[in-house]
Amino acid sequence: MFLDKEEEKIISGEAGYIKQRALNIIIKIGETLGAEKLTKIKKVHISGISYKNIGDPGLEFIEKLAENGGRFSCYTSINPAGMDLAMWKEMGLDENFFKKQKKIIDLLVKMGAVPTLSCVPYFINPPKYGEQIAWGESNAVLYANSVIGARTNREGGPLTLFEAISGRAPLIGLRIDELRKPTIAVDLRNIDNKKYGLTGYLVGKIVKKDIPYIFNIKFKDKYDLRLFLAAIGTSSSIGLTLIENISPEAHLWKNHIKELEKVVPDNKELMDVESEISSEAENYDAIMVGCPHLFIDEIRKIVNIVGNKRFSKRFIMFIPRFIYFREKKLLEGLRKRGAEIYRDTCMVVSPLINMNIKKVIVDSAKAAYYLSSEGYTVKIVSTENAVRMALE
Ligand code: F3S
Repeated sequence: MFLDKEEEKIISGEAGYIKQRALNIIIKIGETLGAEKLTKIKKVHISGISYKNIGDPGLEFIEKLAENGGRFSCYTSINPAGMDLAMWKEMGLDENFFKKQKKIIDLLVKMGAVPTLSCVPYFINPPKYGEQIAWGESNAVLYANSVIGARTNREGGPLTLFEAISGRAPLIGLRIDELRKPTIAVDLRNIDNKKYGLTGYLVGKIVKKDIPYIFNIKFKDKYDLRLFLAAIGTSSSIGLTLIENISPEAHLWKNHIKELEKVVPDNKELMDVESEISSEAENYDAIMVGCPHLFIDEIRKIVNIVGNKRFSKRFIMFIPRFIYFREKKLLEGLRKRGAEIYRDTCMVVSPLINMNIKKVIVDSAKAAYYLSSEGYTVKIVSTENAVRMALE
């Protein structure tokens, strides 16, 4: 592995023991994966910070890093946690859960993380085209690579911690321009409905791990695109898709498309995946939106649909804390109409069962997949229908 002067200094221990260890781990992983050198990274996004998911072993691991002097070398944001930091009691959580989750967040902040607690780092502090970053949340990775043209692989939670400490990542995979070339063409002309999440889930299921060039799909808005990308990341290990008229790199490969294997999925295949992750049961406990986290446009859209009406069913929204503090008035209006609004967390990484929810309607195929695999009964509808159903 080629190391530059600065990396050699880190390896010699000049920048401290933890940074030396972190860089050593990055080098070992890079060598295993065939990297010849490392790249400096500008931004890291750490996923896997929910106490529900990582438990005591995860907490102890982060504690060891923080207590031994681990500090992040670049801008580092963090994914949703297992609870709303202010409204954890309303979420039915106990003091033990609160304390442990709070400790995880405090340790990450001590190491230098910005407590964004959201899976939309691409809106909070977006990377630039071509920028090398290390992100660990699949919807964020897909958005960064496919919509912005930044460079990141799908990094695992612990790896991002070491990347944030060392400020380096192995120069492999989607970080290299030539390896961002599409490997399969996906023509969506035969899918004529607007089930964006399910369509993304189907694309991921068919393509699994390649780089799809996707065409003949139009999105009404950014949230539909985000639901689509999040679902691709759920049913596959894809980290980049080139979407015609959306991805900044798509035009580079236009002439290459004819040479690719082409798949043309249809509505029948879409219905098959729908029946895998969406149920037709009745009497749901709640209707939930915000996977990925809602941003301002989606919240405004909900406000418009609600108008002067009140929610007659339990309607729950998950948003970033950044938006919570910026849009207090708008959100207060929705709350007065009966919406429950949580920040810092989401429907998948929080223990929903503590909120007395077992059967749920969502607008996200990603959420539907994870919740149904945890034993919840889940139905998927469009965002508009989710809001309307909650008002009926
Ligand atoms: Fe975000 Fe949670 Fe969904 S982290 S993408 S809202 S599973």
